[in-house]
Amino acid sequence: SSQLKELSESEGGLLDRRMFFDPEIYKVELERVFARSWSFLCHESQLAKAGDFFSTYIGADAVVVTRQRDGSITAVLNSCRHRGMKVCRADWGNAKAFTCTYHGWSYSTDGSLVSVPSEEYAYYNEIDKSKLGLLRVPQVQSYKGLVFGCFDPEAPSLVDFLGDMTYYLDILLDRVDGGTEVISGVHKWKMRGNWKLAAEQFSGDNYHTISSHISVLLSEFPPEAADAFMNVDGLEINPAEGHGVGVMYSPTGAPFSAGSSEAILRWRDETRQESINRLGKERVEGMSWTHANVFPNFSYLHDSSVLRVWMPKSPTEMEAWSWCIVDKKAPQEVKNAWRTQAIRHFSPGGTWEQDDGENWSYCSGAGGQEGVVTRLSKLHVEMGVGHERSHPTLPGKVSRTYSEQNQRSLYRRWGEFMAAESWKDISVPVRTAEVIDRSDMAK
Ligand code: FES
Repeated sequence: SSQLKELSESEGGLLDRRMFFDPEIYKVELERVFARSWSFLCHESQLAKAGDFFSTYIGADAVVVTRQRDGSITAVLNSCRHRGMKVCRADWGNAKAFTCTYHGWSYSTDGSLVSVPSEEYAYYNEIDKSKLGLLRVPQVQSYKGLVFGCFDPEAPSLVDFLGDMTYYLDILLDRVDGGTEVISGVHKWKMRGNWKLAAEQFSGDNYHTISSHISVLLSEFPPEAADAFMNVDGLEINPAEGHGVGVMYSPTGAPFSAGSSEAILRWRDETRQESINRLGKERVEGMSWTHANVFPNFSYLHDSSVLRVWMPKSPTEMEAWSWCIVDKKAPQEVKNAWRTQAIRHFSPGGTWEQDDGENWSYCSGAGGQEGVVTRLSKLHVEMGVGHERSHPTLPGKVSRTYSEQNQRSLYRRWGEFMAAESWKDISVPVRTAEVIDRSDMAK
């Protein structure tokens, strides 16, 4: 386990490349990171009615998440207990039961095995159906509309796992009464590249924007806006080990996000005072919240209204799943504008998206990383080492907008999970955000 931890000894700023392509490391990662962490499953608005379900993955394990009649949400392994066929092959929908198409075993939406064809003739009525339900994900919890699941019963609660990340999630999830919803289904696409490359970029990499996205900046923005973007100042924030958020100072108060439309800007203006009352001035005015990642692989782009999961598919392949999240009470015109913006910029054909995918492909898989000489040279994540600091009001460590503080934190957390024998060896973030008095901040 000490060797696994050394792979990500990023305090000194060096990373072992093998963590981006090695099949043995990938296998351990599925067990020690994904089977222990809280993973984003879906938004509660996708499960509005009893029987609504959504099929997804925790790491490489297929799960189906369902709203029960009593309003609770459960998640079960999407694998028949008979021969392992997927019992739910739809991406989402509404069901009264999940019936396996191979031999017809039928499960209720909470996973209980309720019927077996020819139970008397084939099984002499001796099969114990009570012991053959779909395996349950033992922990399913929501944070303000976001549903997460965790395979490890020993893991701390979702809120404890998030730590002070909740302070920043609230800017997305709790800025107006009624909360959020997701619209327009889910975009999914495959990419070459290890999932960590995407997670680390959303966690803290503002630095790539001026190189990777220069063509978008120059072609889509008026010259003064592109210039502002390229000379931007802001903060990278590390609210708790593993999680990361980025924010840019916005003198005009307008988001720097890719092309916020008139309708969106008007909606933000109309709801500004309500948001200040709920969140305090500091989180609403003068700041443009941009990227974020919740360890391990749940990302979002705040001002672009995009949620992401980077699904691990192999050491060098991932699938991106992308949702558009909007304020639930916003007018339809505003929701349409958010949807259009998300598709134009951050979808498989999105102008910003394509720049990133190519980078990740070459950084693992397509870039000769596995070559006998290349594989042994370390990667550099030293930007801003020693310049992390606390902030008078924002929880967590902060550093300049060009910094690799959050990436180092993500890799340290990854190393901690990889080396730990159980949750007893994994630290739980200390929460401080709750003690901040919101009423003072509204003044
Ligand atoms: Fe599902 Fe046989 S594999 S019933």
